[in-house]
Amino acid sequence: RSEPLVLGIETSCDETGIGIVRGRTLLSNTIASSMDEHARYGGVVPEVAARAHLEALEPAIHAALAESGVALSDIDAVAVTSGPGLAGALMVGVGAAKALAVSLGKPLYAVNHLVGHIAADILDSNAPPLEYPTVALLVSGGHTSLLLVRDLTSDVELLGETMDDAAGEAFDKVARLLGLPYPGGPQIDRVAASGDPDAIAFPRGLSRASDMAGHRYDFSFSGLKTAVARWVEQRAARQEQEPDVDWSLPVADVAASFREAVVDVLVTKALAACRDYDVPRLLLGGGVIANRRLRDVALERGAAAGVTVRIPPLSLCTDNGAMIAALASELIMSGRPASTLEFGADSTLPV
Ligand code: KG4
Ligand code: ZN
Repeated sequence: RSEPLVLGIETSCDETGIGIVRGRTLLSNTIASSMDEHARYGGVVPEVAARAHLEALEPAIHAALAESGVALSDIDAVAVTSGPGLAGALMVGVGAAKALAVSLGKPLYAVNHLVGHIAADILDSNAPPLEYPTVALLVSGGHTSLLLVRDLTSDVELLGETMDDAAGEAFDKVARLLGLPYPGGPQIDRVAASGDPDAIAFPRGLSRASDMAGHRYDFSFSGLKTAVARWVEQRAARQEQEPDVDWSLPVADVAASFREAVVDVLVTKALAACRDYDVPRLLLGGGVIANRRLRDVALERGAAAGVTVRIPPLSLCTDNGAMIAALASELIMSGRPASTLEFGADSTLPV
């Protein structure tokens, strides 16, 4: 089997990712992020992200080629994320990929961002090969999805997703409530380390039997965010009523209790899917996987349930171009024809 040399382009959110793989081997993974530019708005601003991609793409491609020692003319195929994601941001990557493929006279593969996250695992050279079926939990600032993967190139089923905020978005919004800077996930993780996760009983969205009809594998974090906001407000009101008592916010306890609620519901639902579908494997992906507590709880409760939990290195979990190239490489090796040039960016592209 010949191993294709693939260049992957990822621009679905705020990371401009260029990756180069040969077969299942990672050659380079270059990422330029516009995160800093979004920080003062407390979230990703689509227009700013699209403009940043336009500026970052060409240097990122050159950096990836330099890093891998690959000449552009040696590339066998170009891959690009066509969705889901921010429409304007996706369009920049899709336009660049088409131009590159046409000018090189090489095939172009349009791929799904979520499936790309799963493909990232293939590039983890320290792990044994990915086995099927596997359940995949993808959690980032843009998505929170639970998938059943029977075959990476032909059979990926979306079991559930968030009905409102993504898990990372919830971290970012709650961090803001607590006066912590953006992005909030790492900040909450840091502050929570000295807090008591059982201090406050925050709600677990879509976890009661009555809410779960038709939403067994779906997530909801807006109620949790509101509960934290209310708790913070009540504390401030109390302080106003009783100026002589110290009602200052126990930030560490709030952070730890909030984090526990998110982690609990993510792991509970992922392991429920493993049990229901009789799948003893769980793959984690997305930037929120950086969360220490999420990793620990998933590994602990996975082991107790007889589920092997795979966590690729973080550089492959956050949005990147290598995972897009890896997925296209799998498609090529499985004999899938290239995409025709008619496709566009599809912000709600299904798996
Ligand atoms: O995958 P990613 O880098 O970018 C996209 O959202 O696509 O994920 C970034 C998200 C942000 O919402 C950030 O707050 C969250 O992941 N995050 C974390 C942690 N590190 C990053 N959330 C919780 N705990 C962390 N340690
Ligand atoms: Zn992503």
